[in-house]
Amino acid sequence: MLQTIPQLRSFAQSQRQSGKRVGLVPTMGALHEGHLSLVKLSQEQCDTTVVSIFVNPTQFGPNEDFAKYPRTLENDLRLLETHGSPAVFVPNAAEMYPNGFDTSIRVGNVALPFEGAIRPGHFDGVATVVLKLFLASQADAAFFGQKDFQQLCVIKKMVADLNVPIEIVMGPTIREPDGLAMSSRNRYLSPDDRCRAAVLSQSLFAAERMIIRENIRQAEAIKQKISDHILAAGGMTIDYVSVADSLTLRELETIDRQTVILLAARIGAIRLIDNVLVENAV
Ligand code: PAF
Repeated sequence: MLQTIPQLRSFAQSQRQSGKRVGLVPTMGALHEGHLSLVKLSQEQCDTTVVSIFVNPTQFGPNEDFAKYPRTLENDLRLLETHGSPAVFVPNAAEMYPNGFDTSIRVGNVALPFEGAIRPGHFDGVATVVLKLFLASQADAAFFGQKDFQQLCVIKKMVADLNVPIEIVMGPTIREPDGLAMSSRNRYLSPDDRCRAAVLSQSLFAAERMIIRENIRQAEAIKQKISDHILAAGGMTIDYVSVADSLTLRELETIDRQTVILLAARIGAIRLIDNVLVENAV
């Protein structure tokens, strides 16, 4: 297990010097099938895979769940051993943010709406830690899940703007049999709330059908349908439902290009996000 940045750097350097393509899967641990699918994708596309496990304090707001975020390192390491034994980087907070650390990466417009509006500073924390991981690992490719679609857009923009020499690969959202997107936070749902949570993906899939099969193109009608669907299940509040251009994340009035439908909702104290890409919206 690699614990310091010099250890990670020299490991990755030796791999690259021997001609190996290095893949990085950044995580905050509490690993589930979604993470493991990214590890598999990296193993398919790269010779060496590094999984980082670090619950990054700078991406949590003061009233968010940093202290309660699940930390399951022993189980995570066991899971990784049965999934091809990638190298694992597990730094502590002082390693990533030594005393006096005073730099932050702020990505522009793509980071402002949706999660960025509700969680101010969140994407600064994400971009900063991810860039540190990219620089320390010198990975050739990094793997992120579609579930955190806005995060993926923020990271792609940072990489493009700062000319970071790394390929960003998106893995599909991995879902439970009833459609709920896998998330480390799902374990905190009560059994009733867990059942109810399936309505989030169901409402997105129904919206996708409206667009593709019924050719409904007004974003407002789609958003209304999704909200009604979710609220009818009861016990949930909606933070946002948005229909946006999947490249710029600008809100759309008419669905006439590659589109992403994003939502965030709260079930009790648990906040869940999900999205679908409507690839053939044009
Ligand atoms: O998606 C996550 O788990 C985190 O935001 C990431 C990318 C590991 C950065 O801390």
